[in-house]
Amino acid sequence: MIRVPELIERKRDGGELSADELRALMLGYARDEVPDYQLAAFCMAVFFRGLSGAETYALTEAMIETGETIDLHSALGRKVVDKHSTGGVGDKTSIAVGPIVAACGVPFAKLSGRGLGHTGGTLDKLESIPGFRVELSTDELVAQVRDAGMAIAGAGANLVPADKRLYALRDVTATVDSLPLIASSIMSKKVAAGADAIVLDVKVGEGAFMKTLDDARALAGLMRDLGARFGRETVCLLTDMDQPLGRAVGNALEIREAIATLRDEGPPDFAELVETATARLLALSDLGLAETDARARVRDVLAEGSAVSAFERWIHAQGGDPDEGALPEAPVVHELRSPEPGYIAELHSLPVGLAALHLGAGRRTKDDSVDHAVGIVCLAKRGDRVEQDQPLAEIHARTDEAAQEAAEELQAAYVFAGEPPAERPIVLDVLA
Ligand code: URA
Repeated sequence: MIRVPELIERKRDGGELSADELRALMLGYARDEVPDYQLAAFCMAVFFRGLSGAETYALTEAMIETGETIDLHSALGRKVVDKHSTGGVGDKTSIAVGPIVAACGVPFAKLSGRGLGHTGGTLDKLESIPGFRVELSTDELVAQVRDAGMAIAGAGANLVPADKRLYALRDVTATVDSLPLIASSIMSKKVAAGADAIVLDVKVGEGAFMKTLDDARALAGLMRDLGARFGRETVCLLTDMDQPLGRAVGNALEIREAIATLRDEGPPDFAELVETATARLLALSDLGLAETDARARVRDVLAEGSAVSAFERWIHAQGGDPDEGALPEAPVVHELRSPEPGYIAELHSLPVGLAALHLGAGRRTKDDSVDHAVGIVCLAKRGDRVEQDQPLAEIHARTDEAAQEAAEELQAAYVFAGEPPAERPIVLDVLA
């Protein structure tokens, strides 16, 4: 029997825990033998004292052991790739990346989550497609990746169950922002879900968990180290989240933007991120492509239209209607116009995310429902020159009143200047 107070005390005083101790703590928590209040104290001790590389690995391994794991490699007999984002405003990257990877003949399998707060979740976005089924059994997931080339589904309750409880506990005890806890939470799910190679998109900026490039680099380093210890090739992209990604923020609007991107008509920042992430995944895959050849392959697939066909195959396979015309539309579309001429110096992502949330595109609590039709399309973004009265954004709302409230929030997101701001690329760094 472990003596939990002694473990908490040792971590609190800066000591190190053994792999056996961390394993006992996690398994005890998953079995309800260790109560929330002791885990909360442990997380706070980790928040202040950190974890060594060995401890982070042991914690991650113990978390994985609390649930089932999926062996995609054996099931498909191929190298399988996956991508993950730490979450941002307007982040619909996986919905465009998956079909391009599949169109290139590489199996793509991804387990995703729902949105909470100002960032959206891939499953919510996909559920704006009529008929789309996010719940797949492991057998269905494997069969669909084999037959349709790809799947994106909800993580079942038994995939790292300790993380689900621990994340909810961290959320209410101010211990989310701990680098080793974030790294172990993300990588436990990626390793349990079974992909051989993973591209991690670490968002940096005000709309993201990681506010600075240094913190993002440190988190990426921890996740790459965990990937290596678990034998998974891991590449980290550090990408800008000071402004929303692409133009669309809100579920059905983001699906439209993902489809436009598959037609090679996406907004430049989003299209660039999709191309980079996809090329990195292809370079990690069993195609054995060099990164420059992988980029050329992505360009070909977009130009030929086979990415759109792969999207349609995938959506059909998962029960959805891939026709863009079937997506829900909001009854009110209101234009926010520029109060002055000038350059957009900033388009703060947090107020844009919050405005979309308040329109109903996201959930404030776990049990809220989502309005798939509503959201925002940012017509003008950082660096754009606008004239007075030129449309800055479209607000897709349920009512005039909701649109008006969103317009006020959105207005505050735009900062104007007489000179264009310094350019900031979407991909800030790649750690490979
Ligand atoms: N995403 C996760 O899955 N876990 C964290 O701790 C933070 C972001």
